[in-house]
Amino acid sequence: MANSKVTRCALQEVHGIPLLEPIVQHWEKVEAFRAFPEDLLIVTYPKAGTTWTQEIVDLILHGGDAETVRRAPTSTRMPFLEISTPEASHPGIIQLEKMDPPHVIKSHLPIQLLPKSFWESGCKVIYVARNPKDTLVSYFHFDRMNMTQPEPGPWSGYQRKFMEGQLGWGSWYEHVKGYWKEKDKRNIHYLFYEDMKENPAREIQRIAKFLGHRLSEDILNNIVQLTTFDAMRVNPMANYSSVPGNLFDRKVSDFLRKGEVGDWKNHLSPEENAAFEKHYVETMSDCEIPFRFVI
Ligand code: PPS
Repeated sequence: MANSKVTRCALQEVHGIPLLEPIVQHWEKVEAFRAFPEDLLIVTYPKAGTTWTQEIVDLILHGGDAETVRRAPTSTRMPFLEISTPEASHPGIIQLEKMDPPHVIKSHLPIQLLPKSFWESGCKVIYVARNPKDTLVSYFHFDRMNMTQPEPGPWSGYQRKFMEGQLGWGSWYEHVKGYWKEKDKRNIHYLFYEDMKENPAREIQRIAKFLGHRLSEDILNNIVQLTTFDAMRVNPMANYSSVPGNLFDRKVSDFLRKGEVGDWKNHLSPEENAAFEKHYVETMSDCEIPFRFVI
């Protein structure tokens, strides 16, 4: 199994949102998922800093105890709600059914596709957003290395697919706006990747406060150190190294690839950047979200 050739998934739409085909096959189960009031959802558009936030949250919930947090890989500790691929031995929904609450759950679903029970239960939701240019670059490299994702194709065509919302989980623009518009009406803590890079201690303290925890200076500093890019890159429980090489081709890219703000400058030509900017300004004109492209 670990060496067998993997077939990349096709996308299929659910309510107009392209998702991996195996997710769509299990969609009824995902939709019927029952969240508990004490659950916590970490939801993002792909490549926004989900894994980083998951590690921070797990450390906060365990008082900064690195041993406990190294008990299992990220995807076992905090299942990925909707995920299901032909190779996945444990679709997220099945893993969650077997775990007692409270659950910490990962999802990339846009707000309109989230199971209703998340809102009915009133459970806490952390939304992480990352500027679209770095998200685009990160997603491109992820699609190159993750053999279950659709074939990314050439870089220029990939940019177009991102702008037109044709990648898995749909439009980045609608995703970030959807949660932004609801954040003050619901139990949503909306945070930015760029802010976490700029001042991780401040953002970790804010997350802790949202979760009802107060961190001592020592524990806070410890969590900052344990969740740097360099620390997580060599942590086998946080770097997805347990995923077999036929699924994640690390000769192509690492999961924790660069972890920077502004890597887009190494990828977008001046012309591509101008076209991206123009489209960004037009598409985001109805919703002012303070994204930063450099820090
Ligand atoms: S996924 O597959 O959607 O769950 O990916 P996700 O975890 O959201 O995003 C992966 C990107 O986040 C970067 N990352 C980090 N950056 C800074 N610090 C830390 N600790 C960290 N951990 C993960 C990871 O490197 C991916 O970004 P790129 O730009 O590709 O490096």
